[in-house]
Amino acid sequence: MHDADRFLRAELPVVAAEREAEAVAEGSPPEELGNNEILIWHVRPSEVRAPELVDQYERILSVSERERGDRFRFGRDRHSYLVTRVLVRTVLSHYTGIGPTLWSFETSSYGRPAITYPPSASALRFNVSHTTDLIACAVARRREIGLDVESLERANVRIELADRFFSPAEAADVRSRPAWRTRFFEYWTLKEAYIKARGMGLSLPIEKFTLDLQEPRDIRISFAPPLRDRPETLRFQLFDHLPSYMMALAFRIARQERVVVRVGPTVPPSFGAAPATSVHEGPSPTPVGSIEIVPEGPRVFLEGEEWGAFPPIASKT
Ligand SMILES: CC(C)(COP(=O)(O)OP(=O)(O)OC[C@H]1O[C@@H](n2cnc3c(N)ncnc32)[C@H](O)[C@@H]1OP(=O)(O)O)[C@@H](O)C(=O)NCCC(=O)NCCS
Repeated sequence: MHDADRFLRAELPVVAAEREAEAVAEGSPPEELGNNEILIWHVRPSEVRAPELVDQYERILSVSERERGDRFRFGRDRHSYLVTRVLVRTVLSHYTGIGPTLWSFETSSYGRPAITYPPSASALRFNVSHTTDLIACAVARRREIGLDVESLERANVRIELADRFFSPAEAADVRSRPAWRTRFFEYWTLKEAYIKARGMGLSLPIEKFTLDLQEPRDIRISFAPPLRDRPETLRFQLFDHLPSYMMALAFRIARQERVVVRVGPTVPPSFGAAPATSVHEGPSPTPVGSIEIVPEGPRVFLEGEEWGAFPPIASKT
């Protein structure tokens, strides 16, 4: 926790507790986040432009977040940082009813942020990813999750990167495809999602595990020494429903567990004069679809209809 945040928390415990009680009491009830659900909300920072909205967002950030935001040199990066922080705070608030200003986070030695306040929300896990004009936040309960988004239009991508970062089998698969870029980004996002779910970033040797994409509805992982994990407890899902973007989710499951993953666009809600109490007044995020991960593989629903794959699974050329 930043010193300034610690100071505020230490000086104002009663006020903070009152504000939290207020925040929970007012507004419509929070949406329930089931133990077997994972929600992914994505937002385009370019759609958050109205000056009054940006102004309200800035008031949601903690002192240390505001200071960090001010250190960005380019306005575009500062804006992306702002929208990311507000997305995280409002998504967490959406499922708890706790005011968006009240959350505190600390960062692990590997860079992963986790909730430190309020203690009542300690079961919530979230993971954020950002790329050019897309920010996504996944949230779940008591479950390791990792999310990655990449722009397919990224300029500095060369096939040699596959030899450097991917396992030999993955690199060979990418090299075997004339239209290799899509496959490249599938591996890239899945590998990032896995290391983010583990919370250890690039301290994990990223070339020592292999994703098997033969069956896109049942993506498998295997490990080479010194890496060890339990492949049967890991599930992966690719999403390419947003043109020009690839998104991947990695998550841990218990044996035979059913998990529903929902994904959809949102714009963090706007806030009135008392931001801590009005989190539920904005438009609720609307999922575009959901995936039920059952032991036999994912079942995908879009607007109530079952689909064979999340629309559409990337072309496998
Ligand atoms: C930091 C890293 C975890 C993700 O980096 P990234 O893909 O560039 O960035 P993303 O936007 O997807 O994720 C960044 C967010 O992940 C979270 N994060 C940071 N470290 C994390 C960790 N160790 N575990 C889980 N999440 C982490 C943070 O919330 C961060 O956003 P924030 O700083 O705004 O809070 C790490 O994997 C990395 O540096 N990757 C570099 C990419 C690369 O070279 N990949 C090789 C090809 S596969």
